[in-house]
Amino acid sequence: MLPSCQGHGPVGRGAAPDNEEKDMTHVAGRIAELPQFAAPAGGRLTDEMRAAFDAAGVIILRDFCSVRKCAELKARAEELVEAFDPTEVRSVFSTTTQNQLDDRYFIDSGDKIRFFLEDDAFDERGELRQPKHLSLNKMGHAMHDLDPVFDRFSRTPELAALARRLGFCKPAIIQSMYIFKPPRIGGEVVSHQDSTYIYTEPESCVGFWFALEDATLENGCMQFIPGAHKGPLKARNYRRPDGTLTTDILDAGEWPEEQRLPAEAKAGTLVVFNGRAPHMSAANRSSVSRHAYTLHAIDRTSHYPAENWLQRSPDLPLRGFE
Ligand code: FE2
Repeated sequence: MLPSCQGHGPVGRGAAPDNEEKDMTHVAGRIAELPQFAAPAGGRLTDEMRAAFDAAGVIILRDFCSVRKCAELKARAEELVEAFDPTEVRSVFSTTTQNQLDDRYFIDSGDKIRFFLEDDAFDERGELRQPKHLSLNKMGHAMHDLDPVFDRFSRTPELAALARRLGFCKPAIIQSMYIFKPPRIGGEVVSHQDSTYIYTEPESCVGFWFALEDATLENGCMQFIPGAHKGPLKARNYRRPDGTLTTDILDAGEWPEEQRLPAEAKAGTLVVFNGRAPHMSAANRSSVSRHAYTLHAIDRTSHYPAENWLQRSPDLPLRGFE
């Protein structure tokens, strides 16, 4: 069963449009480019947009928020970074080496604002290679509930309407991340499904990824395998009874990585994707950063397991987009 207020929940795997063969974005039944639209008025996805999202598992909405709003969020992130002392933290986040495993700093960050450095941030002597603002991988995971500027950005009538059109009954923003993807050292993120980490029964995770700066192939934009969200969840990450993290492989099959398509996005673009949609981003070897802000929502009508890595204090109850 999928959570559903409208007969199809947020992770509903709806059929491809009937006119798939005639659609220029499909080649031999395969989606040839990721569905992209100008942001709909008031966040109200049209039926065509919703069908495209269901078929591809991802949709790109240009100009969802203004460049001014993006700049405000970047400026607030800069202030938070300014107050951060990197010598207190040696934690790094890497999906290639799973360095965050057994790391309390990460596990306890679900209801806090914490900073995670890139793998290559430190040199052999343990000194930062670049200034701290150019060494960060991400900040997470509760800015949307703890910081007023992030709160305002994360809760708008447009996002609330969008969540409704995606089929959420009772959306809750479970986490926020500010992704820095700094020039030269911004690391690769290998293909994964976000429902591996944000698991509910039934699955209900949807990602909302805002480009705060232009994301290009050169600086490591996200890439998706369209339609692959219709396959199984391949892995589940959870806390063991001793509090450490582990990942179980649920399906050993391979994703058709050769079908990956780039989600290049100008600042102000919103990329929405199904928690089962496999995605990755290449390392940023360019000379420019690729800042992005992501929200993940779950449906409160789904069960949220106590063994999920992200747990919040009862003092910080979950809230939706309103
Ligand atoms: Fe992800």
